[in-house]
Amino acid sequence: MTVKELKQKYLAFFESKGHVIIPGASLLPDNDPTVLFTTAGMHPLVPYLLGEKHPAGTKLTDVQKCIRTGDIDEVGDNWHLTFFEMLGNWSLGDYFKEGSVKLSFEFLTQVLNIPLDKLAFTCFTGEEENGIPKDEETFGIWQSLGVNPDRIQFLGRKDNWWGPAGQTGPCGPDTEIFFWSGEGEVPAKFDPSDKHWVEIWNNVFMQYNKDKDGKYQELAQKNVDTGMGAERTVGVLNGKSSVYEIEPMATLVCQVAALIDTTFDALSSEQNKAARIIADHLRTSTFILAEGMAPSNVDQGYILRRLLRRAIRYGKQLGITEEFCTKIADVVIAEMGGFYPELRKNRDFIMDELAKEEEKFAKTLDKGLKEFEKIKKGDQISGTEAFKLFSTYGFPLEMTRELALEKGISVDEESFDVEFKKHQEESRQGAEKKFKGGLADDSEVTARMHTATHLLLAALRIVLGDHVYQKGANITAERIRFDFSHSDKMTPEQIKQVEDLVNEQIAKALPVELVEMTLDEAKEAGAMGVFEHKYGEKVKVYTIGDFSKEICGGPHAKNLSELGHFKIAKEESSSSGVRRIKAILE
Ligand code: SER
Repeated sequence: MTVKELKQKYLAFFESKGHVIIPGASLLPDNDPTVLFTTAGMHPLVPYLLGEKHPAGTKLTDVQKCIRTGDIDEVGDNWHLTFFEMLGNWSLGDYFKEGSVKLSFEFLTQVLNIPLDKLAFTCFTGEEENGIPKDEETFGIWQSLGVNPDRIQFLGRKDNWWGPAGQTGPCGPDTEIFFWSGEGEVPAKFDPSDKHWVEIWNNVFMQYNKDKDGKYQELAQKNVDTGMGAERTVGVLNGKSSVYEIEPMATLVCQVAALIDTTFDALSSEQNKAARIIADHLRTSTFILAEGMAPSNVDQGYILRRLLRRAIRYGKQLGITEEFCTKIADVVIAEMGGFYPELRKNRDFIMDELAKEEEKFAKTLDKGLKEFEKIKKGDQISGTEAFKLFSTYGFPLEMTRELALEKGISVDEESFDVEFKKHQEESRQGAEKKFKGGLADDSEVTARMHTATHLLLAALRIVLGDHVYQKGANITAERIRFDFSHSDKMTPEQIKQVEDLVNEQIAKALPVELVEMTLDEAKEAGAMGVFEHKYGEKVKVYTIGDFSKEICGGPHAKNLSELGHFKIAKEESSSSGVRRIKAILE
């Protein structure tokens, strides 16, 4: 079985059971400031798990691309990946424990034809102090389906509880399904600590909402959220001992081996690990880039940079001498671009950014490693030294930590933080202090410029594509300075098209409408903007005809007729993957 087949079988099965197949969401959560990436299939569905009506109904199924970098150190072992595809089925107040367990049982034993003897299960053991009972109910349901009680274990919070990635939100006990990946006879009694039992599916019974005070409130609507890691499941079903032996990882690691003119099988165990890390990190990076996100020193851009630079360092360790990031990304796109069209659509951006980042880092990597050798004398690397490796040689702190660990020394991370903050503060002073929310003042003239900025963003997305997001704005009464994600220089035709689109709208003399709504409503309405607000909090949404809709604090012009003629004075590069436009109203 291939990942593709598993995905098809899964979606078809749940569709046949009344579930609607919904598209997976972006890797960049647009409504949750508590995490940088979509970490699970349930993540984009949180508003619906809390009771909002989903347009597709109460039974859903999908494939969600996910990124988890929390256990990045474990990547390279047999089963860990930073990017993975999660298959899921949801009940939003429809079926609960019994329905969920029965569906999983049928899929595993009737569709995938797994002998029951190869399966084992865990249930939640309960937590008296929080008023959460032992999940005897689920235990009973598994048993009623013919599961031997010796194959069911009760475990605690660490294993059988699923909470939100952030602190508050929907949560509940879960039941996990394990597959025996060992050879020979399956042990009669299930021991969850035996590594041959590999977890393949997790059914979460979302029964509670954890509130700000850490209390568990019973949800009026009981939900089911299940997640099955596609590659891991296909790996064990095919009797493989690692996720790198199935597609597309198998092809990726072979490509890495080919870069040093060898085959994957011929690699030493250390080389094998490096090849796996490179394959994993470059695949994840390719997917992040496909979202229009470029490497940077903050948030998602920083994680991307870390992944890339880590891959480049392992490439060096492996002895790869040529530029290789784009080569591996090429294979990722070929292997996965069918299911994920964003890979093909944003191919130029992906290749461009990879080449730039590799070139930039390759230049300083050798010197940085030499510098590291020089400073590693004592038993600790000071914060100043670690910061120098970061600022001069582009070593993410995590990389310095890793190199230090290999030599058995530590890094003074606290004093690194102090250096880092000092540096950030220095560069932030000036511009940002003066410009709150990108606006120099709240005069009428500046408000007009601000309204024109909304038109500009909408026009850029029409002309250049959906990868365009606002990356920064600095608006005065004299001019607009606007940064946005896009890697190529705009052509004179594109600039003209954007100007024309904006001026066409201005000529319509449309009113600029302000409506306050909840963040979820704003999202539903398709508003652009930085979703840095909390659930339930009201946000202001400014709408201009059907051309522009943005979450924004204002102020704005009342009507486009106040704006005058829009003109782009300059288009230039701002930073890697970000262009800058200077524009005026005449
Ligand atoms: N949310 C659960 C998980 O990520 C099930 O989808 O494992």
